[in-house]
Amino acid sequence: MANVARDFFIGLSNNQFLNTRAKKWGFFLGADKFVAGTTIQSVMKAVKELNARGISCTLDNLGEFVSDKTEASQAKDKIITLLEAIHQENVDCHLSVKLTQLGMDIDQNYCMVNIREVLDAANKYGIFVNIDMEDYAHYEQTLDILSVLRRDYDNVGTVIQSYLFRAEDDLQDLQDVRIRLVKGAYKESAEVAYPDKQAIDRNFVTLAKQRLLGSAFTSIATHDHHIIDELKAFVAENHLDNDQFEFQMLYGFRNDLQQKLANEGYHFCTYIPFGDDWFGYFMRRLAERPQNMNLIVKDVFYT
Ligand code: FDA
Repeated sequence: MANVARDFFIGLSNNQFLNTRAKKWGFFLGADKFVAGTTIQSVMKAVKELNARGISCTLDNLGEFVSDKTEASQAKDKIITLLEAIHQENVDCHLSVKLTQLGMDIDQNYCMVNIREVLDAANKYGIFVNIDMEDYAHYEQTLDILSVLRRDYDNVGTVIQSYLFRAEDDLQDLQDVRIRLVKGAYKESAEVAYPDKQAIDRNFVTLAKQRLLGSAFTSIATHDHHIIDELKAFVAENHLDNDQFEFQMLYGFRNDLQQKLANEGYHFCTYIPFGDDWFGYFMRRLAERPQNMNLIVKDVFYT
């Protein structure tokens, strides 16, 4: 049953008609609980509130299915304006970016020009840029682009998904790169990814422990308190340095736990999406946790 719900919401997340319509309709279904408005101003307000509570942030200018250069170029300009705002407002915040938004599906060289412009602006202000990992169809291209970028920039990293069989090998190659470790949000074939949740969770813990014993910074991105507790115990047992890692969660999820981890002295970073292209992001969140439907029901009936 859980798999049926997951497939249903992932199917919706890929529906281009609904994605385009939702941009025009604006937020509904309670999406505003998980997306910090549509403007740089609205997301900055959310960042300042979290910073005031000891939580740092990473910002995602939402965007899916970018298939023409005008749209990709507009996205790049907005991201650079966002970097300028982060600098001017002097907030504790970095950037998360999806390469398809910068034109990876149009032309790899064109995407490379765009991401270099973004990284140049970020470098100028000393801001780290994380390249989000999308579905497996974009995986190798993303790692290829990263390896070229790493020759010229050290303010860039990416995401590795523990549902992929190859995650451990890829992390070996990325030992000196800042990485966000996640379970993986897309529907992938059993040829490349573990189909069952237990195996994905186990692999997440194994990979997180390997990273924690290494030297590069790791963002441990999960809402799973069992895993968080296990990793906290591992850090304590091995006398590891809290400055080598942070926990990350998505905006609007488990706010109490986010604050608790920050209060306990762990580095904590909230991933904040914003923008009008919210539909695909929101459907993937429902795919992960259909219980979030409760929020929708409340939103529809009680507001
Ligand atoms: P999971 O859904 O596996 O739940 C595990 C357990 O945690 C549940 O059984 C429950 O006990 C508890 N739990 C989870 N959510 C809860 C809630 N809201 N309330 C109460 N209990 C809850 N993916 C990707 O493919 N590419 C990417 O670039 C990113 N980036 C990214 C950034 C950040 C900051 C996060 C947190 C996640 C991503 N993801 C991602 C998504 C990721 O791959 C994954 O799909 C989701 O995080 C869901 O997996 P979890 O480990 O969070 O919990």
